[in-house]
Amino acid sequence: MAAQLHPLTAGISPETAGAAPGDELAGLWRQAAERAIAYRNGILDRRVSPDPRAVAQVVERLGGALPEGPTDPARMIEDLDRYGSPATMASTGGRFFGFVIGSSLPATVAAGWLATAWDQNTGLLVAAPATTLLEQVALGWILEILDLPRASGGAFVTGCQAANFTGLAAARHALLKRMGWDVESQGLFGAPELPVVVGGDAHSTIFKALAMLGLGRDRVIRVPIDSQGRLRAEALPDLPGPAIVCIQQGNVNSGAFDPAGPVVEWARARNAWVHVDGAFGLWARATRSRAHLAQGVEGADSWATDAHKWLNVPYDCGIVLVRDKSALRGAMGTGAAYLQESPVREPMHYTPELSRRARGVEVWAALKTLGRAGVADLVERSCRHAARFAKALRESGFEVMNDVVINQVLVSFGNDAVTRSVIERLQAEGTCFCSGTEWQGRAAMRISVSSWATTAEDVERSLEAMRRVHREVTAA
Ligand SMILES: Cc1ncc(COP(=O)(O)O)c(C=O)c1O
Repeated sequence: MAAQLHPLTAGISPETAGAAPGDELAGLWRQAAERAIAYRNGILDRRVSPDPRAVAQVVERLGGALPEGPTDPARMIEDLDRYGSPATMASTGGRFFGFVIGSSLPATVAAGWLATAWDQNTGLLVAAPATTLLEQVALGWILEILDLPRASGGAFVTGCQAANFTGLAAARHALLKRMGWDVESQGLFGAPELPVVVGGDAHSTIFKALAMLGLGRDRVIRVPIDSQGRLRAEALPDLPGPAIVCIQQGNVNSGAFDPAGPVVEWARARNAWVHVDGAFGLWARATRSRAHLAQGVEGADSWATDAHKWLNVPYDCGIVLVRDKSALRGAMGTGAAYLQESPVREPMHYTPELSRRARGVEVWAALKTLGRAGVADLVERSCRHAARFAKALRESGFEVMNDVVINQVLVSFGNDAVTRSVIERLQAEGTCFCSGTEWQGRAAMRISVSSWATTAEDVERSLEAMRRVHREVTAA
């Protein structure tokens, strides 16, 4: 088998590359796979943040002048592993709790490898039949597991930033169309007014999406929030006409959920469009124990979420879902004489991109191998670990600043200076990794449990490190 593969020596051309090239390619791919296996096996015991000396070497060892001629690919992989791997963040391991960054399930990495070898341009069915059809299957499964309207349209995009952009583009299309304005053709100059309502603690990606869509980041009506960052539904403005209202399921800091039911009701009375930013919180709907937190979002019009966060597929993968498929297509549709279309769903009509990698394959692999029960377990386990963190930190005398409803914990170690020093030292020390934020005007350490790989032992080891680092900071 291997001997029939194309040569890759020097990458010049199959004709000039020499004899017995297939073995060489197979050897290279095996080498890369073996190095990847060693990397992932080592990640569980490794320090979480990379040694700064390794980071300092990346550009020194892998940079330099643009090569004038070829480099042996095996040597390239060896160098990439030798100097690149130690400079990575161990975010695939069990003790990374920074930002909201998921690990990747081994099965999804394997599926991703195969799909990368397929190298399918998943914008058009005729160019990529297997992956285009698999994406359709995966989208159907996503609607099922998140229990959202089954006839919705959707697409795989780079992340929740792109999903928010795409969902809001569909909203802009639909609402302006209702007012007799074709925004895709006519642009926004002279368009009817389209108010946008957001919660006072909406994620930064909503504002960037609004900016990119010409709806303006500062033009929004901000609704007051409660102590957990939740939009207060009773404070929604009394708008007369159509509007877009953005709600959040899973505040990036506290994990709190905006009250979807009352917002949807408010929107229905006004012909408004409800867009849901559910980057990670929407996955509560995949569980029995926490689905109630996101109850009512099924009444919304568009939903944005991530697979690279809680579903633990490799970066990058976001998902946009839109109740009215034609609104999504109206906003994202494209075409050209050379783009040969089929009667079935063409991904290029539903995403901002034309050419794109087969992101849905890894989502398909995650859902296929975990099943409903496995996804629920992944989410519920993360929440239990977060609850353990909160309980133990409180017992150690620290302040847990949020109601821990899902996987997010906010901690103060005393005053802001101490909290910031604990975060800095903890990151440098390497047992675990937590990032920082400001919560209601105060410094906070964020713990986000988003990895299948986190064990109870990881949690206890991390807690010990937090207590130790706090002692060191206060002693200093
Ligand atoms: C609520 C929320 N929305 C959007 C995003 C952006 O997601 P991404 O980084 O995948 O674009 C995040 C990221 O943490 C988030 O928590």
